[in-house]
Amino acid sequence: MKRITVIAAAALALWTAAGVQARPFDAIQKEGTLRLATEGYYAPFAHFEGKQLTGFEVELAQMMAAKMGVKYEWKTISFDALLTGLQQDRWDLVISSHGITPEREKAVTFTQPHYCSGAIVMSLDPAIRSGKDLAGKTVSVQTGTTYMQYMEKNLPGIKRLVNFPTNEAARNALLSKRVDAWVTERFIAKELQQKNPNAQLKQGELLLVERIAAAVAKDNKSLADAWNKAFKDALADGSYAKLSQKYFHEDIRCP
Ligand code: ARG
Repeated sequence: MKRITVIAAAALALWTAAGVQARPFDAIQKEGTLRLATEGYYAPFAHFEGKQLTGFEVELAQMMAAKMGVKYEWKTISFDALLTGLQQDRWDLVISSHGITPEREKAVTFTQPHYCSGAIVMSLDPAIRSGKDLAGKTVSVQTGTTYMQYMEKNLPGIKRLVNFPTNEAARNALLSKRVDAWVTERFIAKELQQKNPNAQLKQGELLLVERIAAAVAKDNKSLADAWNKAFKDALADGSYAKLSQKYFHEDIRCP
């Protein structure tokens, strides 16, 4: 009886450890498929064209998998559930334009940043351009983003911060004039303006700058190393530059 209890306890301990343990790179190699996750509503970084997931980060991750010698599969899920899924070993790597922050670094391990960017103020009113101009205004932003956190902390004068589950919904709130301003990513803002040159939409100033990286489970060093090696290779052999030109007509790598 006693022995059975001991064995059961040991099995439970093993099972618990295995249940939350991230797969190191050699386990991924052995099984053959890298499990990737992204939000999928963040054009042109990761979005659907019909049923096909595509975009800069999607193509980049697929390029990394090829260089790492593994196949890949995608999961798409809401932005605020992505990093938690890593801790539960639901996927191996998240690539969804996450800015590296000390707070997130406590929960996950970031790879080398794959681009540098920032948050920008967008408005239909040319007088609203900077963080200061947001005082007394209603502002839309995506839930769970560094942008939302920044405004909560640094811009107490904002009359109402309205958060949306996707960046697209936050954009639509501005386009339908339900808010005075929308805070979003600068390359998304640039593309939107280029596609609608006649729109009233005005790009304001940068609110914050950040380094954007993929994330793996905390301390899954072997996977981060394999990704970083593939990434370094892509920077050196011109494939990163080519992909960046395709989507942004410029090289968006971090300086
Ligand atoms: N860079 C911002 C952040 O780190 C926004 C990211 C939004 N990403 C997305 N897939 N919707 O929070």
